Amino acid sequence: MTGTIDIRPLSDVVGAIVEGVDLTRPLDDTTADLLRDTFSRNSILCIRGQQLAASDQIRFGDLFGPVDSGFRVRSGYGGQETRNRGVMLVSNIRKNGEQIGSLPDGEMQFHSDGAHRDIPYAATTLYAIKLPSVGGDTLFANLAMAYDALDDDTKNRIDELQVRNLYGYDDTFREETTEETEPNTSAATHNLVKTHPVTGRKSLYLSRLMTRHVVGMDRGESDDLLNILFDHAERTEFVYAHKWLMNDLLIWDNRCLNHARTDFPGSEERLLRRLTITEWHD
Ligand code: SIN
Repeated sequence: MTGTIDIRPLSDVVGAIVEGVDLTRPLDDTTADLLRDTFSRNSILCIRGQQLAASDQIRFGDLFGPVDSGFRVRSGYGGQETRNRGVMLVSNIRKNGEQIGSLPDGEMQFHSDGAHRDIPYAATTLYAIKLPSVGGDTLFANLAMAYDALDDDTKNRIDELQVRNLYGYDDTFREETTEETEPNTSAATHNLVKTHPVTGRKSLYLSRLMTRHVVGMDRGESDDLLNILFDHAERTEFVYAHKWLMNDLLIWDNRCLNHARTDFPGSEERLLRRLTITEWHD
């Protein structure tokens, strides 16, 4: 039934909008292949305006790889979400003073989900359930474009380097965690330049939120290099700002994109349902 599916660019930088698929039902193999192929070529898929239960989002995520199987929410929302494997709520809503989800408030620096793990998340899906009237955009930085735009000397300098990533769970700014010995942290070493396993394209793989130092490099030199690369990777020509609409579903490719969040009013509720695609062996 691929004849009725419409695919068009989400932005000049990255992404595709897909219309004509009904994610409340299982998809046929041809449609699933089309979505996977469109995802590989565009790095973000945006599917709009569908009322999706957590089980629909899990079925969608399963098309792209094994979805994360941990039970990740705190108290849950409406009593539903805690029963669904791998689902995490991203929300500033509090009930009886307790957060119902993770990553609650305000701005968040650029990062790639799971870059602090030995095996990062290949992809993330996020579904909009409640949105503030202003702000709370998710920004996506195209790290393959950023790598391509580097001069040859810089590419040669960084191609074989490795970086140490560190994350304190629920942090939104790097300064919130500084040491790997702090509680609720996770750290991993990765290549600074990665080759995408499907497209074969090279990308930067570092982020302002998580990347702490270049392995084996003097700290001052490492800080100088990383600061140049952080600024480069966040240049506006590589960044798309997603202004959420209610019931938007996004899937994005953590292997070649960073994402961040803009600030939003703390007095307004924001709730999105997140599901990660687990395995990425490189
Ligand atoms: C995330 O980094 O997973 C959350 C992004 C967002 O809240 O827009």
